[in-house]
Amino acid sequence: MQRTLVLIKPDAMKRRLAGRILTRLEDKGLALVGLKIMQVTPDLAKQHYAEHVAKPFYPELEEFITSGPVVAICLEGPEAITVTRGMMGKTNGRESAPGTIRGDFGMSRQLNLIHGSDSPEASDREIPLYFSDEELVGSTDGMVGTFF
Ligand code: TYD
Ligand code: MG
Repeated sequence: MQRTLVLIKPDAMKRRLAGRILTRLEDKGLALVGLKIMQVTPDLAKQHYAEHVAKPFYPELEEFITSGPVVAICLEGPEAITVTRGMMGKTNGRESAPGTIRGDFGMSRQLNLIHGSDSPEASDREIPLYFSDEELVGSTDGMVGTFF
């Protein structure tokens, strides 16, 4: 069983797509173990995107990710990280396959609707940036009908 950190980004919020994106992830079989709406601060953005802070696109990325509320989500399931990344599609919406979230809803590289942790190391680092232990429910492993 694995956990991953997902953000529904400000562009998706402005476009009222949060419910549809969450529905796709739940339909797949991923379980909600944490959920909140919040504002990403510049400080949190720098921690979240630590690997990108020194890159030329970072200032615009920070401006975007702090431009409005996000929905922070912790999802759980078998291979939740890879499954979620596959459902997201490639970073650039123009290159993302139809059937993926980015491929179906976007044309942009920056305004790409959703974040998902890209490795177990990343999810271990990212989940505590957004959720305290008390904000995450216990494992959903064994819940009737959740996994099959
Ligand atoms: P990255 O971690 O490479 O992509 P992903 O979200 O698919 O894991 O980059 C983080 C975010 O930074 C990405 O979602 C969009 C933005 N970004 C740019 O704005 N320009 C770029 O050239 C890249 C690579 C990313
Ligand atoms: Mg990434």
